[in-house]
Amino acid sequence: MFESIQPAPPDPILGLSEAFASDPNPAKINLSVGVYQDDQGHTPILGSVKLAEQRLLGSEQTKSYKPISGDPGYAAAVQRLIFGADHEVIAAGRAATAHTPGGTAALRVAGDYLKKMHSRDGVPPTVWISDPTWANHANVFQAAGLSVKTYPYFDPATNSLSFDAMLQALSQVPAGDVVLLHGCCHNPTGTDPTYEQWARIADCLAGRGVLPLVDFAYQGLADSIDQDAAGLMQLCRPGCEMVICSSFSKNFGLYNERVGALTAVAKTQVAAQAVLSHVKTCIRSNYSNPPAHGAAIVTTVLNDPELRSRWEGEVKQMRDRINRMRRLLAQRLSAKGVPGDYSFITRQRGMFSYSGLTEDQVRRLREKHAIYIVRSGRINVAGITEANVDRLCEAIAGVV
Ligand code: LMR
Repeated sequence: MFESIQPAPPDPILGLSEAFASDPNPAKINLSVGVYQDDQGHTPILGSVKLAEQRLLGSEQTKSYKPISGDPGYAAAVQRLIFGADHEVIAAGRAATAHTPGGTAALRVAGDYLKKMHSRDGVPPTVWISDPTWANHANVFQAAGLSVKTYPYFDPATNSLSFDAMLQALSQVPAGDVVLLHGCCHNPTGTDPTYEQWARIADCLAGRGVLPLVDFAYQGLADSIDQDAAGLMQLCRPGCEMVICSSFSKNFGLYNERVGALTAVAKTQVAAQAVLSHVKTCIRSNYSNPPAHGAAIVTTVLNDPELRSRWEGEVKQMRDRINRMRRLLAQRLSAKGVPGDYSFITRQRGMFSYSGLTEDQVRRLREKHAIYIVRSGRINVAGITEANVDRLCEAIAGVV
């Protein structure tokens, strides 16, 4: 059976990390996968996470299975983080959360649930994704059996949101379909709607039977934990329905613990629990129940005032360093005489900068300079350091 199998192409993001690992060039630079690095190019374990782990090591009593949807205490902590403790959605009990292995599993379980419960006459809903979007979004939903269409999002000519075109496209999405939005730090463009634009997006989607699905993987890396939920709060109006897929890979640095969550907001508590019951069937037939450790860390940190404030400080440090690297990159590109105005890099938010580098330039950066960037030209700004920025900018000057 296996004789005729041809190898699959490498993953456009994680495949680059594999290629980077096997590159013998000692000066190689990895700006591909969205992983935070400090000034020394190291991906640290947060101090708040280490402290929580020490406590957990002392207090853990069992390695028995978790419930299919994870610990209720984790679900409650995640909801408070997303909505704020006093939000009407929490008071009404109309949100239901399942712990998933990372944000990717949250998206996949959402896809499985939508296919299972919201197909009409055997036709699954279409998920509308931004053009461009995270390279894995279409794969995840298509693998779940959904079809995927795009709405305009970014104008490369002005390096800004194509807001009018986006709104026009969203206004045409038929009832029963799903619109995927990035809660903050849009991946790959680093370009988010303003608060006013979020309000207009929410006006456009409200009451039309279109389900917003918010990919919320970078909370805290744009402005602050609370401010980064402002767009999502616009969507989350009385009587709304929506799905939120959270990831704690980036803001807790828990990449390899695979910790995320799927939160469904329904009109009533009864409806939310019914949705959760079907989400659980999707989980059971997929990975059965979630891994414990990462969620225990997140719960411990979020529920302890001292650890929480330490964590918020650490998220701020990451955010500040990324923004410093944005400014440095823009300055050094100009200083090295790279043609063009790169001030847009300082206006983008989160880990990524959509550099405008072409596929051919990206290829030459890799082949000639051992600099690894995603094909779309997306640069992980968090991988830039004082030590590598000059080499990076000289190489870019050489290829543009
Ligand atoms: C990224 O976009 O680089 C990250 O979200 C990591 C991944 O899984 O692709």
